[in-house]
Amino acid sequence: MLELRDVSIQIEGDDGPRLLLDAVSARFRPGEFWAVIGPSGCGKSTLIKTVAGLLENTAGAIFWRGRDLDKEGDFSVGELAYVPQFSIAHESLTVDESVGYAVRLRVAGLSATERKARREKVLRETGLTPFADRPVRVLSGGQRRRLALALELISDPAILLCDEVTSGLDPRSEDEIVALLAGLAHDANRLVLSVTHSLRQAELYDGVAVLFQGRLVFLGKGNELTDYFGIAHHEGVFNRLADYEPEQWATVWRRYAAEVAAALEGIGEVREEPPAEAGAEDKSDETKEEA
Ligand SMILES: Nc1ncnc2c1ncn2[C@@H]1O[C@H](COP(=O)(O)OP(=O)(O)O)[C@@H](O)[C@H]1O
Ligand SMILES: [Mg+2]
Repeated sequence: MLELRDVSIQIEGDDGPRLLLDAVSARFRPGEFWAVIGPSGCGKSTLIKTVAGLLENTAGAIFWRGRDLDKEGDFSVGELAYVPQFSIAHESLTVDESVGYAVRLRVAGLSATERKARREKVLRETGLTPFADRPVRVLSGGQRRRLALALELISDPAILLCDEVTSGLDPRSEDEIVALLAGLAHDANRLVLSVTHSLRQAELYDGVAVLFQGRLVFLGKGNELTDYFGIAHHEGVFNRLADYEPEQWATVWRRYAAEVAAALEGIGEVREEPPAEAGAEDKSDETKEEA
């Protein structure tokens, strides 16, 4: 599990300190596909760059498989991949060559046969096999995004972070990439966090995280999102956010999340025996870790 516990980023602005992220707490499990949404400038890129270790949180902590990434060691090599909003590839190389070079550069100790197998696997995973011999310069927008993903999938990462990989695509290509990302999560037990401006295919996501001016204001399933915000359609969420201040939304969200957590705790635990001692230590804060 990936857990963010009160993650904040404070910078020195022109008129004093400014929080780019304000005590963001969230849990994401392997095999889940999440959308990260919110108005422009709300901190989406900041959030995933922080998870990727490209930005350093000034408060709070990030845990992966129960390990505090700052104190107990970072992600291991290849465990995490990050696809930035604008990725670059060599225009004159073919798709196959691009992936081939990336395999050589990024994965040490493979034999030629293993490198070939790795190359073919990521081409297959990203649907690029039929375009393997094409030069990058003739690829469509959607094919370029597939290539950007392929280059990051070489290490078979357990976490894949994507920043607006569907922006600027036509709706059909966008749908295809979102479906591809869902498969990359579900078929490989991989956690995929995808920053997006669009919830066109909300049903493909296991969850949606909503950020508003650096605050987390919702975390849950797409159908819960519409209920929670009292809106008819997902697209209404940004307008709805404008009805209250970010801090108000964040406060309401924290209260709601705490209530849901308390209710779930009651359902999940069936005590066979009463606790050994009254007032036994409260373990509700401990991280429950999966294998
Ligand atoms: N290094 C930085 N220094 C100062 N402000 C920054 C920095 N990076 C981002 N910001 C500001 O932080 C806010 C969040 O940015 P960002 O995470 O890129 O938003 P989003 O991806 O949601 O559009 C914006 O107001 C942006 O101007
Ligand atoms: Mg951004």
